[in-house]
Amino acid sequence: MSTIPSLAVLGDVVAAYQAGTAGDAEAAKSCCAVVYGIDLVGLFLGESYHPGGVELTRRLAELLALEADHHVLDVASGVGTTAVLLAAERRACVVGIDLGAAQVARAATRATAAGVADRVRFEVGDAERLPFDDGTFDVLVSECAFCTFPDKPTAAREAARVLRPGGRLGLTDVWLHPDRLEPDLSNIAGRIACIADARPIPEVRALLEAAGLRVDHVERHDDVLAATVELVATRLRALRLLDLPLLRSFDLRRAIDITRSVGDVVARGDAGYLALVATKP
Ligand SMILES: C[S@@+](CC[C@H](N)C(=O)[O-])C[C@H]1O[C@@H](n2cnc3c(N)ncnc32)[C@H](O)[C@@H]1O
Repeated sequence: MSTIPSLAVLGDVVAAYQAGTAGDAEAAKSCCAVVYGIDLVGLFLGESYHPGGVELTRRLAELLALEADHHVLDVASGVGTTAVLLAAERRACVVGIDLGAAQVARAATRATAAGVADRVRFEVGDAERLPFDDGTFDVLVSECAFCTFPDKPTAAREAARVLRPGGRLGLTDVWLHPDRLEPDLSNIAGRIACIADARPIPEVRALLEAAGLRVDHVERHDDVLAATVELVATRLRALRLLDLPLLRSFDLRRAIDITRSVGDVVARGDAGYLALVATKP
């Protein structure tokens, strides 16, 4: 996938969203999927599109006691880093689904390059309408994505539905006190930054428990969110200095301001990052 066409698509999607679809759940989802399909995102976030990177994915696998040949669903699998790691290091059989076709294509290429294409496959799909039968998976993971889903009760119910009884859910995700968020972060930019629709930890627990899951363990990794925000801010400032023609139509100054606001929210303890494990009884 080339960066230039996808940047052009991004402009259209964000413009359409801002022109009147704000609050429209489907528009918010596709905007998020388009943004994370752009090659340039890797420049900011590295190989994993979540705070904590592969180290936190390894911690999640440990918390889940993931075993060889477990059938795992990775919801919102992005460019496939988590799914490929679980197949390569844990010998799990993994299906990844993501709303973004570009992410799915890049994830498949990653699996082939890592030599695990026989254990991992990727498809386009929506977390709120999982295309799988009840009880299909031993484990479901989702990293830095639950906070972006507009219909969280449905996404939680879908996760519970596709797990077998005794199956486990593992999330890593942004948590947030939304009532303490500045208004400019509650728009689409905040949502893309995985902030605007994140929830406080008790609410995440309640959403999962209402879907029939038992939350066994929650641990906080707020430092990794602070580190990611700092990394993104540094890279945005460097890009602004470089003044690349490709990026002249983008308001990097505004992006830097948004990143700084997110950093402030994290620094004052109103947002952070969690790892959570739940079981389907
Ligand atoms: C922050 S990225 C995280 C990707 C990956 N889990 C990782 O940690 O590297 C969020 C991903 O969620 C996907 N996404 C957003 N809404 C979705 C939905 N409703 N169903 C499936 N994927 C979705 C986006 O396309 C994007 O690839």
